[in-house]
Amino acid sequence: PVIRREDYTPFPWLVPETRLDFELGLESTRVRSTLTVVHNNKAARSPTIRLDGDGIKPTSVKVDGEPTQSFVMDGDDLVLTLSDDAHEISIETEIDPSANSQLMGLYASSGMLCTQCEAEGFRRITFFPDRPDVLSTYTVRMSGPKDQFPILLCNGNKVATGEDGETHWAEWHDPWPKPSYLFALVAGDLVARTDSFTTMNGRKVELNVWVREGDLERTEHAMESLKRSMEWDEEAFGREYDLDLFNIVAVSDFNMGAMENKGLNVFNTKYVLADPETATDGDYDGVEGVIGHEYFHNWSGNRITCRDWFQLSLKEGFTVLRDQLFSQDMGSEPVKRIEDVRVLRGAQFPEDSGPLAHSIRPDSYREISNFYTATVYNKGAEVIRMMRTMAGEEAFRKGTDTYFDRHDGEAATCEDFVKSIEDGAGLDLTQFRLWYSQAGTPKVSVDFGHEGDEAVLKLSQLVPATPGQDEKKPMPIPLKIALFDRETGTHSGEQLIVLDKASDTFRFGGFAQKPVLSINRGFSAPVTIQREIARDELVFLAAKDDDPFARYEAMQDLMVGHLVAASKGELGDEDRAAGRKDIVGAMRAVIEDEALDDLMRGELMSMPSQTYLAEQMSEADPGRIHEEREALKAAIAGELQDELHALYDRAAELPFSHSAEAKGARKLKTLILVYAAAHDPQKAAELAAHQYENADNMTDRQGALMVLTGIDSAERTNALIDFYNRYRGNALVIDKWFSLQAMSLHPKVLEHVKALADHEDFTMKNPNRVRSLYMAFAANPHGFHAASGEGYKLIADLILELDPINAQTAARFVPALGRWRKLEPGRSALMREQLERIAAAPKLSRDTFEQVSRSLG
Ligand code: ARG
Ligand code: ZN
Repeated sequence: PVIRREDYTPFPWLVPETRLDFELGLESTRVRSTLTVVHNNKAARSPTIRLDGDGIKPTSVKVDGEPTQSFVMDGDDLVLTLSDDAHEISIETEIDPSANSQLMGLYASSGMLCTQCEAEGFRRITFFPDRPDVLSTYTVRMSGPKDQFPILLCNGNKVATGEDGETHWAEWHDPWPKPSYLFALVAGDLVARTDSFTTMNGRKVELNVWVREGDLERTEHAMESLKRSMEWDEEAFGREYDLDLFNIVAVSDFNMGAMENKGLNVFNTKYVLADPETATDGDYDGVEGVIGHEYFHNWSGNRITCRDWFQLSLKEGFTVLRDQLFSQDMGSEPVKRIEDVRVLRGAQFPEDSGPLAHSIRPDSYREISNFYTATVYNKGAEVIRMMRTMAGEEAFRKGTDTYFDRHDGEAATCEDFVKSIEDGAGLDLTQFRLWYSQAGTPKVSVDFGHEGDEAVLKLSQLVPATPGQDEKKPMPIPLKIALFDRETGTHSGEQLIVLDKASDTFRFGGFAQKPVLSINRGFSAPVTIQREIARDELVFLAAKDDDPFARYEAMQDLMVGHLVAASKGELGDEDRAAGRKDIVGAMRAVIEDEALDDLMRGELMSMPSQTYLAEQMSEADPGRIHEEREALKAAIAGELQDELHALYDRAAELPFSHSAEAKGARKLKTLILVYAAAHDPQKAAELAAHQYENADNMTDRQGALMVLTGIDSAERTNALIDFYNRYRGNALVIDKWFSLQAMSLHPKVLEHVKALADHEDFTMKNPNRVRSLYMAFAANPHGFHAASGEGYKLIADLILELDPINAQTAARFVPALGRWRKLEPGRSALMREQLERIAAAPKLSRDTFEQVSRSLG
């Protein structure tokens, strides 16, 4: 069935108290729940209560302590008839966590028990109104064998413990009412890194990061990130932690990144464990960002939760913005901004222009797990960032203060958020609300001219049609701009203009000569800018723009323009040479600019991704794009050999540390190897092998191995064998070993991936491992878009095999096959064929069924 946002009605019952009693066992766990229910005054009176279930059976049902037969099973749900306004309902269920391969609800992961309840996993544990607007106070008792589960954790505070022979128990109480999706329980043989944090009002909080025995040394960065998050949220948003205990647990089998359960965050090990030997600089940043993200949910998600799942972006979009701002403050602000825009363009723009396009507040769904998307998360963050840009930081903070004050303890809506910002920040967001309801990436066309002594900027916007939304209204698009004087290379101040009509003209006086326009600075709006701009103006901006994002963008545009034209076969020899010359010149200027730090230099020197290039065309030919991109790389590497060598040598001198400087140096080293590989593969293989062998950290070693995987050579074989033997048994690093081979530019990547699927370390049961091989492959245009269609078939086979095991993870592979409309006719047909094959399979999960049928359109 399709669930619609407009059908929302409040639940007829309140559940003020929930008591749960778990008798834990890996193969059999008995759950006794007792709910106090009272009639909800804000809803229509109902003689029945519907408790959601998913694949569970009640072994006993009581009302007010008496066994009852006055219930029926309606599908998976349990519907009870109640005579009065207030009752106590007790239900027993028995579940088998070891058989739970979906990793939703209560499941076993390498000998421990843990839970994942968002969005609808709690109903796989016990019968309950499993919806985010039913808030309840939980008291939980858990008991189990001491030797197997020495550590027993739950939300809130531990209030009592005891033992009884081989068995022990713990009782936990969470004073903050919460929806069922925030429930969590963990039992296992774990050890903790313990620390503490004192909040701004003097509350001393015990902090623990729980991991398996051998992983303790790799938890320092997670703990430091947690303390920094707690401090930052007090300063940046005035938010203080509200319990005496904060636990984080690392789990190796996990569908997503992490989960913000109240007081007991459960994490994918990938976002907890880090040390220099096994984690890259990117991994370190990932840990910090996700630790921050989940911690920030304590206010944006837990204290204020969502009324229904259509409001998901209320907590996710806002929390992503909060984690982005946190990471910006902890590291390089411009580089973080560039990275976030790259993620948005790489993942969200394709979503917005394809069959799965939806607004950040969707109107309908079949399976909510399919809506944990880049649109809800990342575009959601951009939409709130625009409000912040329009209001200014101070006024925006007044808006968020208003939101937290007004809705604390509630299950709120996106509308509540917008209204709070409107009132608190003093903005009129009437028209801006369209950003919540309209899908599709707006296209802004720029016509920039000069009349008399005025610069004249004519802008028009087009919000493209998306599935179910043919007609769009113009939206307010805040654009930061600057007008540069060509001679002096400066401008007289950045301005914010808001394009809120289909088209509009902005005039700027005092320009005897036509200035150079820098637009959408800082990526102030999540739109595509379409403009005719002379190459020399891009070269100018790439060298001079004082907005780091705009400078990066100019550099990208320079390369995008060239590569798109070249891939379409529009460039003659002369044009090609002229284009390359400009790009090489701009690149040289970037290498030589002493005012740049190396992290930023690395961004400016990076090529647009193949996926991003394909997005710029209506019928992309991935093979042609790949050729042209490699050819440009080779040209740059050839022309700038000496400069790149000198840069490499300079970078290689810096000893390992986590400073921005050293990180920048590492980024450059691998980037230079990437360029070199396109120009002189054998020489690059030698350089990369040298970097590999001498690496004293994973960033250098992985970077070198990445380059080597694409070069058919003895160095490649040796490094792959060495890497495997060196890190055998370390799951997160072996994931990298799978990924690097699946992402490789090697001509036989498809065969490699097939062979890796038969490797003894490969398993369909572990989502990290599945993603490390197949997500990496699906994101590798070179292999995935093989002209034979074999890449598409490989992913379709995977989806069909994985669907019965882990539907949520299987469905996440479908969007890769949804791009058929944007491809040249041959590949387009082959891709569609695979979607149809999946659609025809018997017994598809709801997750995969929804994604496949939407993708076929
Ligand atoms: N709320 C989690 C986060 O921090 C994600 C949970 C996703 N769960 C799911 N079943 N899709 O973003
Ligand atoms: Zn989140």
